[in-house]
Amino acid sequence: MCGIVGHLGPQNSVDVVIEGLKRLEYRGYDSAGVSFISSDNELMVYKKKGEIANLISELDGKDIKARSSIGHTRWATHGGVNDQNAHPHAAPERGLSMVHNGIIENANELRDFLSSKGHKFESETDSECFLRLMLFHLDEGLDIKDAVIQSFKKIKGHSAFVILYKETDEIYAIKNGAPLVCGINDINSEAFVSSDPYALAGMANKIYFPENEVLCHLSPSNQNILNFYELNGEKSKRYTAKAQNMDHDPAAKGDYEHYMLKEIFEQPELIRSLTQFYFKGEGKDSLLKALSLPRKNVHITACGTAFYAGMVIKDFIEKENRIPCKLEIASEFRYRNPVLSNDELALFISQSGETADTLAAQQLCKEHGVKTLSIVNTEGSTLYRDCDANLLIRAGIEIGVASTKAFTQQALTGYLLSQVIKHNGMTDEVRNLLSGKLSLLAERIDNLLAREDEIKAIAKSIYQYNGYFFTGRGIYFPIALEGALKLKEIAYVHAEGYAAGELKHGPIALIDDQKVNVALVGPELFEKTVSNIQEIKARDGIIVSIGPKNNKELDEISDYYFGVELEGLEDLSPICLNIVNQLLSYHIAKLLGTDIDKPRNLAKSVTVE
Ligand code: AGP
Repeated sequence: MCGIVGHLGPQNSVDVVIEGLKRLEYRGYDSAGVSFISSDNELMVYKKKGEIANLISELDGKDIKARSSIGHTRWATHGGVNDQNAHPHAAPERGLSMVHNGIIENANELRDFLSSKGHKFESETDSECFLRLMLFHLDEGLDIKDAVIQSFKKIKGHSAFVILYKETDEIYAIKNGAPLVCGINDINSEAFVSSDPYALAGMANKIYFPENEVLCHLSPSNQNILNFYELNGEKSKRYTAKAQNMDHDPAAKGDYEHYMLKEIFEQPELIRSLTQFYFKGEGKDSLLKALSLPRKNVHITACGTAFYAGMVIKDFIEKENRIPCKLEIASEFRYRNPVLSNDELALFISQSGETADTLAAQQLCKEHGVKTLSIVNTEGSTLYRDCDANLLIRAGIEIGVASTKAFTQQALTGYLLSQVIKHNGMTDEVRNLLSGKLSLLAERIDNLLAREDEIKAIAKSIYQYNGYFFTGRGIYFPIALEGALKLKEIAYVHAEGYAAGELKHGPIALIDDQKVNVALVGPELFEKTVSNIQEIKARDGIIVSIGPKNNKELDEISDYYFGVELEGLEDLSPICLNIVNQLLSYHIAKLLGTDIDKPRNLAKSVTVE
């Protein structure tokens, strides 16, 4: 997903935009660019391949005082990674520049049409079509507002566009299916636009979430610096507004070397605050609202780590309530013409609430009259706004591309949902029982985190092997999958998650003395899991066991054994074992020297198919 920031107001606009882009670099970063109106009223464009630091050094020593500016960090979808394909795309001589997030699905058709009208494309991107469409309409004599509207009407696919126009010193923004947020600071008379409210934290004091096809207009010359219009030109009320109370601490990493490590260590506190939110705070009502939805059976749909959290939630709901839960990978579900009925519940799990495949799956369920519930981190996200009910996971901003605290909070929010269904509500007795359990979990995770050096030592012993299996049975199988994903994502090493009982049906052929098997072992199916470990050991596999503490049998058969106190938390023990996986992957990646917070090829939120 690309990052977009726009600003206009009295302070130097380029500084504001660059600061916003830095905050969004975690979302997509193979090039970055900025355009602004210079003090001698020229439209300037600077854009560079690579991280934002390259753009900043490009701007060094240049006159960048500006009252309006737009910027972009790119995660390439169409066209290679180079300066030319970076955004903004602009016609400086016409005073027009734009940035884009999403995919223009009819780009080829538009490119042919515009080329036939004499337009010369300078990049390989789909995004440049929108710039040339606007120029085409300006040449027809339309004003900039109508040129934007008419161009937008020709675009197919999910996109958000932000446009800077020198002639009238204004910014327009509009979206369909991609994230877009506006903001104002009415004290400093500033207006902002971005793809992520986090970019505006500490700058805007009020934020607005426009709906699809609402034209946002930022202009210093209007009475209101920010206005919203329908495509027919009339004023629009299709937006929600809220005070922006998201603090942004530039030293957000604190003493941690990486955001990912900070977010791993935040988990105990977040579990405690989740308990407060749902048992004593505004979350109570949303749990009861979720309870009111039909649930003859449940379709759980998500992607990546959120999908693995969904596997854990399926286990919680089925074990406690005997309600059939069907797990769906969003990118598959949306195209297989699923059988749906309106007495079912569609549960969507997402950290960002902007994952294109998950959003499309949610829209499909809505079209079938199925009630939709989200377990989501980002309030105000598209998923949050489109679902019939939402359960917030209260994980705070997750900067590390590899999801850690969001997984834990997603799984626990699903656990609370399973308990509310089981007890058909939340009596004081149930509330006390659950808050006791979650505070014990938080305490156990604190204890695990205090043993980081032990995990670091295991990482140091195994980081140079050339292949990893993560195996588990039952509720530990999703933890095996999630553990393998973490290692792949941040260490770039080949790792596979497998049901422990499945290895002997083929994959065990890969086992030799250069392969590591990280065995997730719980009290459930303990003996079966141990026999699977024996099968791997018999073929010289290196065994790392993460399982119940002080277990002699595990200690004897493992090359490395990390015992976890699971007493009294059996049903939540997968959450504990997963914390060990998070730290193990982190330290292996650190030893391999990869970019842990911004792994290659990845983006924090995948808003394209
Ligand atoms: C997790 O570490 C990955 N970054 C990725 O799998 C992510 O979980 C997936 O893209 C879903 O994102 P979402 O939770 O924002 O929908």
